[in-house]
Amino acid sequence: MSDDPEPALLIRGLYKVFSDDDGEGLRLTESGRSKDEIQEQTGAVVGLRNINIEIGRGELFVVMGLSGCGKSTLVRCINRLIEPSVGEVWLNGREITAMSDDELRDVRRRDLAMVFQHFGLMPHRNVLDNVALPLEVGGIAKAERRERAATALGLVGLGEWTGSMPNQLSGGMKQRVGLARGLAMETPVLLMDEPFSALDPVIRRDLQDELLALQESVQKTIVFITHDLNEAVRVGDRIAIMRDGAVVQVGAPNDVVLNPADSFVREFTQDVRLHGMVTAASIMDTEFASARGSASVTELIEMIEERHLSTICCVDEDGKYLGTADPSSALRATRSGVTRVEEAPLYIGDAVWEHTVLDDLVPAGLRANHPLPVLGDDGVLIGVIPLERLARAMVSDEAAVAATEESEASG
Ligand SMILES: Nc1ncnc2c1ncn2[C@@H]1O[C@H](COP(=O)(O)OP(=O)(O)OP(=O)(O)O)[C@@H](O)[C@H]1O
Ligand SMILES: [Mg+2]
Repeated sequence: MSDDPEPALLIRGLYKVFSDDDGEGLRLTESGRSKDEIQEQTGAVVGLRNINIEIGRGELFVVMGLSGCGKSTLVRCINRLIEPSVGEVWLNGREITAMSDDELRDVRRRDLAMVFQHFGLMPHRNVLDNVALPLEVGGIAKAERRERAATALGLVGLGEWTGSMPNQLSGGMKQRVGLARGLAMETPVLLMDEPFSALDPVIRRDLQDELLALQESVQKTIVFITHDLNEAVRVGDRIAIMRDGAVVQVGAPNDVVLNPADSFVREFTQDVRLHGMVTAASIMDTEFASARGSASVTELIEMIEERHLSTICCVDEDGKYLGTADPSSALRATRSGVTRVEEAPLYIGDAVWEHTVLDDLVPAGLRANHPLPVLGDDGVLIGVIPLERLARAMVSDEAAVAATEESEASG
């Protein structure tokens, strides 16, 4: 079924507690005790706590969080490299957590490839044979595995390097080989545990771009682990943020950065409120008063007074922005005999487009002495930005940029 809403991966009530006790650690985890408390009391380590996630087909789902929060445990519980304590993992409607060893081996080969941060390339095998290794282990015939390995190497830009030996490759190229290894499995789902973390920033960005292009063309479902929010925001369709084994927020990158669920996420995201992320649409109010052009100027003045506004936006019958009126311009209009709003002199200078980024909002905000009207591409008024909102966005943004520059200068 092409419009099947069934998720590619469904994780329900998943727990992992590392312990050799009789289940006391797990019971305490289920009862909501803190990770530290449980470890102190029983020696058990909370790996995962009640994870519930649905990942759609073709989605690039990022899991991020600080070291030790449980990211690797989560991906490894998905393919059962780590056995979950409780809970279910479903892959395309089949329950992985109920599979026999044989079924599991099959699923890992056909459905669920994994790319690791640190993986060994066999030094005496060339690049092609390194990529083909898991296929060889999986019993794929030589001609087919070489063809699939070559295709995968082409996808990651190493088509010319198939005959090279690992020691001839840079770190970034080796990581591409790892990615190619995962791709050559031709599985619908790819699990990637910090695949780019060991790389320097420029190469890392290249590989992120390549991953995005790849996903566009091969439409895989990807679970991508990172501890870097910049990377998460760059590559993720959605991001799950973990702390102490639990998921504390799941959302689109924009959501997570602009509406952090709690102070933990806010702290995380502060560094990432980069200029490009904050657009007029992301900080506007969508509830606002507006006056129709066909209304009378007297009605307009009444609206302004009743609602204690300093200004009001005026729109035509289709909702298109005409301009902004204030009490004195309205009064002047009535005195000069104008009766309808659309004939009155309106300020029109300081409207912004919904896609306008914070950098470009600032000049308009500095000029305006009223909330900034935000227009859609068709000129329809879709929101307003109160100036104090803009000021707050500027402050947090400037703080973020300063922090980024500082860390770049010191790093
Ligand atoms: N085999 C194990 N035995 C005991 N504790 C474990 C084991 N594996 C992981 N843990 C603990 O589980 C928690 C989660 O570890 P995990 O490796 O999943 O974190 P992570 O988010 O991947 O961290 P990193 O970013 O450093 O890779 C940590 O507290 C870790 O110490
Ligand atoms: Mg890890």
